[in-house]
Amino acid sequence: MGRSTNPAVALEREAPCQDAPAPRPFLKWVGGKTKLLEQMTPLLPASWNRYFEPFVGGAALFFDQRTRRPDVPAFLSDVNAELVSCYVAVRDELDAVLVALGKHVYESDYYYAVRAQKPAELPSAARAARTIFLNKTGYNGLYRVNRSGQFNVPFGRFTKPLFRDVENLRACSRALSGVSIEHGDFSTVLERAKKGDFVYFDPPYVPVSATSDFTAYIPGGFGEVEQRKLADVFRKLAKRGVHVMLSNSDTPFVRELYEGFAVDVVYAARSVNSNAARRGKLAEVVVRSYAGKRA
Ligand SMILES: C[S@@+](CC[C@H](N)C(=O)[O-])C[C@H]1O[C@@H](n2cnc3c(N)ncnc32)[C@H](O)[C@@H]1O
Repeated sequence: MGRSTNPAVALEREAPCQDAPAPRPFLKWVGGKTKLLEQMTPLLPASWNRYFEPFVGGAALFFDQRTRRPDVPAFLSDVNAELVSCYVAVRDELDAVLVALGKHVYESDYYYAVRAQKPAELPSAARAARTIFLNKTGYNGLYRVNRSGQFNVPFGRFTKPLFRDVENLRACSRALSGVSIEHGDFSTVLERAKKGDFVYFDPPYVPVSATSDFTAYIPGGFGEVEQRKLADVFRKLAKRGVHVMLSNSDTPFVRELYEGFAVDVVYAARSVNSNAARRGKLAEVVVRSYAGKRA
């Protein structure tokens, strides 16, 4: 059947279906905020001009807010190049990503062959499909690379992992349409965010117990120096009149870094932990620049 030339019909086709599913994160990410959304939503500013999420990870808050505020300009970024190129491909060439995903099979030897590929050498759609496939079929949905940057998560045991969730990927692609997605350090948000914008920071967390790990220098890691730099960026943005919200673990160091700002505690049920005994509830803080104490 040919395309209708009647503009009204064309418009009807393009309009989002009333009962189109809401997008959910299509990658499982350590520190994902899906289970915290209910506690975090009441802490959001009443309104904002533009949305920034510079540690985007699984983008749980972004996808949730996108459904409610589809027209607000949004800027997502992350230092993980695989993650960023995956979002770009899902936004710009979802059909090709779906074709590439359709070629994958859930089988151990196959998984390790895909894992061994060099992602930067793959065409963009195949590269994104590889990230989604490994994320959904690898152990615990972790993203972990070794010192040379090679993804090294072992094969995961699942009954029937859904790595080609067409409906949700389409919803995510629509949600990402028109959104800026960039590879870069969180500090670049300083070059962009203006008064009235909203910035949500969800950095790698300060460790709750293993303080020795935290002080150790990890190349490319997020240690004490980066946490202090982030607190400095938070303060600069707050001074500018940007609405800033940040998640982190509830530790004396974090409370000291953000002293003077409003701090609320939320409780996360952590499931990405290989030690079942450590899967209890964890206290996290949500720091806000706009909640009255000091802006
Ligand atoms: C806790 S996760 C974010 C979780 C996310 N909010 C969600 O709901 O899934 C932290 C993210 O920060 C990114 N990251 C680490 N260091 C960074 C840096 N210096 N600048 C920007 N992103 C960074 C990691 O790649 C990771 O995706």
